[in-house]
Amino acid sequence: MMTSAQNKYDLDTPCLVLDLDVLDLNLQKMQAAARRAGKTLRPHAKTHKCSSLARKQIEAGACGVCAAKVSEAEALVKAGITGILITGPVATPKKITRLVDMLAATPSLITVVDHRDSIDLLDAALRQRGMSMDVLLDVDIGLHRTGVRAANALDLADYILSRPALRLRGVQAYAGQVQHISSYEARKAASHKHLQEAVPVFRELKGVVDTCAIFSSSGTGTFDIDLTVPEVTELQVGSYACMDTEYLAIGSAEDSTQFAPFGPALRLLTTVVSRNQIGYVTVDAGLKSLYRDGGVPQVIGSGHSGMVYDWFGDEYGKVTCPGNGELPSIGTVLELVVSHCDPTINLFDRYYLTKGTEVVGVWPIDLRGCSQ
Ligand SMILES: Cc1ncc(COP(=O)(O)O)c(C=O)c1O
Repeated sequence: MMTSAQNKYDLDTPCLVLDLDVLDLNLQKMQAAARRAGKTLRPHAKTHKCSSLARKQIEAGACGVCAAKVSEAEALVKAGITGILITGPVATPKKITRLVDMLAATPSLITVVDHRDSIDLLDAALRQRGMSMDVLLDVDIGLHRTGVRAANALDLADYILSRPALRLRGVQAYAGQVQHISSYEARKAASHKHLQEAVPVFRELKGVVDTCAIFSSSGTGTFDIDLTVPEVTELQVGSYACMDTEYLAIGSAEDSTQFAPFGPALRLLTTVVSRNQIGYVTVDAGLKSLYRDGGVPQVIGSGHSGMVYDWFGDEYGKVTCPGNGELPSIGTVLELVVSHCDPTINLFDRYYLTKGTEVVGVWPIDLRGCSQ
């Protein structure tokens, strides 16, 4: 367990740390950008999987948070978080029962819908309990994962409007396929193009349905791009809070070589545990603590920033020092920026919170494993 004045480099590893100063700056910058544009922020909790961080986002001005799955929403509700939007389809009787149970405890809950069959299930379950619910129509704008094709969206909207227990509050349109396009200008063009598929749907609905006022959209890679689209009302950005190398490597409006607006608040600490080979050392973080996606983690920190991490099996990583630099000794703790934050965070039970090198608290990753 942590003691009050513990240094982060004395933590047992591998572990996740959150640099509170960087995190606060990330939250403030995103909130300020949304506020300046007159939009609402409903950040995605699927990234950080942590109700304490969700609360911090709401304290900073967010209207609530998004959840990918019913079980994530349940954990958020248990922690007292309100203003939750479930951004994926809830499509089976079991899940719909869980959803309706949750709604009884938190009436502000919203879910997306994208198909008549699941709409029927939800409407019937709500009516059986004498309840009604806010829904967003999920419009597929090119990811082709969930959502109704834009060409069929108004038909499905009519169907929702014919269901007595559902209140249509607007649309969701998420262009996940454009978020990591490296060139800012190309990403901008792609995001605008795809968002325009949902714009006429939203305009039409807004014109005829009083309750239709939400256009929920965007991800970290296009946050500033999508803020300029008049119809978009709220951002459901996720990664900006913690960040990872995959995002840090794409160009931004400010700098074509890196994603300048947000810093790496999330770090993984790993220790050198073996040093018997020529040219590299072995560290204690492998595939069970770093999700292998989005390239390789980046070694940062004073004296270590030229070092290179590479995958070395389930339990270990290999660290080299290009240019014949001196390899770190056994027991040295290295700090990594992870390559893809969401699935890496899902491998851990807690974040250690740091200010400089001091550990100042712990947040449970209480949505960890909530994939149902
Ligand atoms: C539906 C949806 N909305 C928003 C996000 C947030 O995206 P990002 O982490 O790129 O900000 C995601 C992430 O995958 C998502 O699936």
